Amino acid sequence: MSQSTTTAAAPPPLSAMLATLRERNAHVAAGGGAKMRERHEARGKIMVRERIDLLLDPQTPFLELSPLAAWGLYANEVPGAGIVTGIGIVNGCACMLIANDATVKGGSFFAETVRKHLRAQEIAEEHRLPCLYLVDCGGAFLPEQDRVFPDRDHFGGSFYNQCRMSAAGIPQISIVFGGATAGGAYIPALSDEVIMVKGTGRIHLGGPPIVKAAIHEIVDGETLGGAEMHTQVSGVADHLVLSEMEGLAKLREIVGSLGESGRLAVPTTTPTAPKLDPDELEHIVPTDLRRPYDVREVIARIVDGSVFNAFKPDYGATLVTGFAHIHGFPVGIIANNGVLFSESAVKGAHFIELCDQRQIPLLFLQNITGFMVGTEAERGGIAKHSAKLVYAVSNARVPKYTVLIGGSYGAGNYGMCGRGFRPRFLFSWPNARIATMSPDVAANVVTELRRQSLKGNADEAAIAALDAKTRAQFEEQSDPYYATARLWDDGIIEPRQTRDVMGLCLALSAGEPHDTSPRPVYRM
Ligand code: COA
Repeated sequence: MSQSTTTAAAPPPLSAMLATLRERNAHVAAGGGAKMRERHEARGKIMVRERIDLLLDPQTPFLELSPLAAWGLYANEVPGAGIVTGIGIVNGCACMLIANDATVKGGSFFAETVRKHLRAQEIAEEHRLPCLYLVDCGGAFLPEQDRVFPDRDHFGGSFYNQCRMSAAGIPQISIVFGGATAGGAYIPALSDEVIMVKGTGRIHLGGPPIVKAAIHEIVDGETLGGAEMHTQVSGVADHLVLSEMEGLAKLREIVGSLGESGRLAVPTTTPTAPKLDPDELEHIVPTDLRRPYDVREVIARIVDGSVFNAFKPDYGATLVTGFAHIHGFPVGIIANNGVLFSESAVKGAHFIELCDQRQIPLLFLQNITGFMVGTEAERGGIAKHSAKLVYAVSNARVPKYTVLIGGSYGAGNYGMCGRGFRPRFLFSWPNARIATMSPDVAANVVTELRRQSLKGNADEAAIAALDAKTRAQFEEQSDPYYATARLWDDGIIEPRQTRDVMGLCLALSAGEPHDTSPRPVYRM
């Protein structure tokens, strides 16, 4: 294969990447900007993130999901996709919060808003978390309606989820702070219990302009869908509150009466901080993915007491497997330490089966270029051995979690529990890259294919242009912000946060009943 002469610029250090991440998170946290905030507050309304702070139990964590959804899309004018989702503790109960940001295009739904809303519901359903909808929503963003409305996983899917979760005994509760129009109206209308704020809360299938256009009736918003009308006349809402603060207190009171829903499990061992400081991860992990390092240095800064009981450490050593605890919860860790060979793949499959048999959740730390290629590897059956890992990942019954701590390329993404393999959560570090292959390899493959099809008549200038175009495409599309904008992960987290984030994720699943039907462990 002809080699490209272009070399990629060295990536910035992790400290610079973290500064960028914090800057972008701060930008998004400001919602629709100062002017919209002023208008919102002048109406006596509280900003969405402050509502969440007021709702949650003091000094408890809020695991925000996909804060950078829609980053870089729509000229970056839809921060957070206009919705905040995440898991927090309300009156001692872990809940999924789904909260519209009315300062971003009236809280209307873009394609990424829908994806974020559906993803939050998916997580809630899997963990049986009560859903609290903080409604301030103008329905579908009309210019984008073809990407929001008609398909299975579009807006309608969120109402389907709401109905199914309610029927399955997972509480669905709404508080209406602002305009809930059209699709937005169905969020409260399909909830088990609804609170409405007098003066600002509105629920109507069609707002005054639609009513005027459709039936020539002229009516004001309050008469058509105000809180008094809905609590006294239509019965669409159940509780009238005079202020947002009163509404949030009422919501806390309702959640307090939900019984056992959302109760977090108690750890099985006493949590201990890692002996090695998680802050050091920033300096240990190289952002140049070609630079090798020992992933055990990462594990030691994530797990309790830095204690990691390695499984088969001397066999298939490019895949590190072993047992540990995070915040007192047991976990089986599978982490890349180089390219995956047949030995590493079958060892991974064996370890997954072991964890499945012992009912220990799995954490995948992905930093993988892929499985080994070449004649020797193929003759050794890398395709069937790597398939064993993929098979084991697909059929493991225990909860799986994935963190992209570096590259996530090719079939390595599959064997290491990429999104297609349904990890309960998937987070990325800011140095992560995700694509079928790296820009260097992609440029080489694409130009080589072109040369072959031109059979020696290749125009070198055109080949160089193709090389540059492919490289630019892969650089752009493997960027973690490109990925998180499109909801390919549940958010970009800082390496030092990994331990706490995983602790919360493990706590959410720890109390679940286990599937104890027998499963053999094959020594592969
Ligand atoms: N589609 C497209 N744009 C929408 C929208 C929607 N569903 N809802 C709001 N917007 C836009 C507005 O055009 C405005 O855009 P601009 O800032 O570029 O001018 C921005 O969002 C803010 O809307 P605004 O009406 O000024 O905010 P508000 O707080 O006074 O009212 C709503 C919020 C949701 C009550 C009101 O915007 C509304 O009724 N929207 C239309 C709802 C509707 O008919 N939806 C049908 C969907 S099927």
